Amino acid sequence: MLEQIREPLLSWYKENKRSLPWREDPTPYHVWISEIMLQQTRVEAVKEYYARFLFALPELKDLAECPEERLLKLWEGLGYYNRVKNMQKAAREVMEQYDGRLPADYEKLLKLPGIGSYTAGAVASIAYGIPRPAVDGNVLRVITRITENPEDILKQSMKKKTEEALLEIMPKDCPGDFNQSLMELGATVCVPNGMAKCQCCPVARVCQAYAHGTVMEYPKKAAK
Ligand code: ADE
Repeated sequence: MLEQIREPLLSWYKENKRSLPWREDPTPYHVWISEIMLQQTRVEAVKEYYARFLFALPELKDLAECPEERLLKLWEGLGYYNRVKNMQKAAREVMEQYDGRLPADYEKLLKLPGIGSYTAGAVASIAYGIPRPAVDGNVLRVITRITENPEDILKQSMKKKTEEALLEIMPKDCPGDFNQSLMELGATVCVPNGMAKCQCCPVARVCQAYAHGTVMEYPKKAAK
């Protein structure tokens, strides 16, 4: 069933993707920086931080060598300073272990400080074309609605199962576009609360929640 989303999503993404700075030149370093920033900040706000950060630190080597005070200054406004501190640790490991190139290997990426399954999947798929899913909150919401999955979205097992299901159906020739089509759908169409724009959704035909008029009820969160 789920594999039916693949082709409509890819066509939709081709037509509707936003033009974003990190999509112009998706090097591993660029994808990594943008995905860390996007985990905490809206796309519109990230654009400016992203440009400033890369102007100051154009290469991974520059990040590894940047004095902490300057680094924190560049991150000012984004918050969660541990993220950028971990990025520097990771950049230093990459300099030492991988000759300054982020490894083209999901498992190796996952071992770097601050890189979890989402970021490893995003870098692997978008920068290297490696078929690995990148499941964040947006993607989880999209898949939960399509499959009308009644489980608590905050359960760790949900993410794991979603990653497994997506790995099965990913196009091997364009995993980065596929992952980004899901992110993009979650960010612009399959949005939270009562605001989903199902009339514009390329996969409404396949969506169980849409079929049953229950989009508003998903994802489920267990009562606290
Ligand atoms: N949100 C996080 N990463 C994204 C990406 N690569 N494209 C669109 N939205 C995103």
